[in-house]
Amino acid sequence: MRAVAVANTNIALVKYWGKRDTRLNLPAVGSLSLTLEGLTTRTEVRFDASLGADRLRLNGAPADERALGRVSRLLDLVRSEAGVTAKAEVTSANDFPTAAGLASSASAFAALALAATRAAGLSIDERALSVLARRGSGSAARSIFGGFVRMHRGDDHDATGTSAFAEPLVAAAGWQPCLVVGVTSQKAKETLSTDGMTHTAETSPYYSAWIGTSEADLAVAERAIATGDIETLGRVTEASCFAMHASALAARPAVVYFRGATIDGYHAIAELRKSGTPAWFTCDAGPHVKALTDLENAEKVAARLAEVPGVLSTRICRPGPAVRIVEGTS
Ligand code: PMV
Repeated sequence: MRAVAVANTNIALVKYWGKRDTRLNLPAVGSLSLTLEGLTTRTEVRFDASLGADRLRLNGAPADERALGRVSRLLDLVRSEAGVTAKAEVTSANDFPTAAGLASSASAFAALALAATRAAGLSIDERALSVLARRGSGSAARSIFGGFVRMHRGDDHDATGTSAFAEPLVAAAGWQPCLVVGVTSQKAKETLSTDGMTHTAETSPYYSAWIGTSEADLAVAERAIATGDIETLGRVTEASCFAMHASALAARPAVVYFRGATIDGYHAIAELRKSGTPAWFTCDAGPHVKALTDLENAEKVAARLAEVPGVLSTRICRPGPAVRIVEGTS
């Protein structure tokens, strides 16, 4: 009853920010992302009847209570579906520096969902796996798939949450989009995305305006991906990011993820664009700068971001693969 899965992280181009149901972890809006090559989480799950409680090791050290609680809740769903009562030992590690604070819950819960279901002897399809991963983290539903991915917000009358799933999008042939990540320094601990989005929904006067941007942005982005129109995809990526952050900035008190390097990174990207290089800014629940571009221009964008004060390192990510089992017995 052991399995090991690997999942790649993803970056939302059209963002998710806000929950409409916290128990089922249903998103207030749909979202659209790119799964990234090279940023992965490897998770081993072993069910063991001799354990008195679930155990979790993250990047070589015992995890804190909050992380263990989130993992146990996902394992409980798998146990009840599979009729397994044994507790589990979960060992998870990222292949990118955790200190860098890049989004890891997406790859972590995608890998956990696949490893746990396989270790419990369950065989479920990708859509059900995406629904399960969503219970751990909204963005994890998208990391079940490779490349461009669309997450559906789901049906308001769905009491089980099975209509809120992700699915892969077919991109225009021959297209080579890239995401350049600029890792910035992290002086303060960030507000976790769950806390930040809940506080935004409860207190921001701009929250409903943000929600109102989502459907149209998703439709524009989907069309741009189908036709390989990076210009349109880039514009909507930047707009969705700033609308999301604007809603968080207007929360009371404000939720501010930007640091100086984030803003300087934005200006560097905007200047590159003015001089003819296709590059658009995005940023998540942390200070790191991300730029959507294409393979041809990725080195140039990375070199420019590396010059921004406070950007410690850069990484060029091509589209990455779907979650997969790398070792497993059941
Ligand atoms: O999956 P969560 O609960 O960590 O939330 C993700 C929130 C953002 O990364 C800011 C946006 C997104 O759609 O990934």
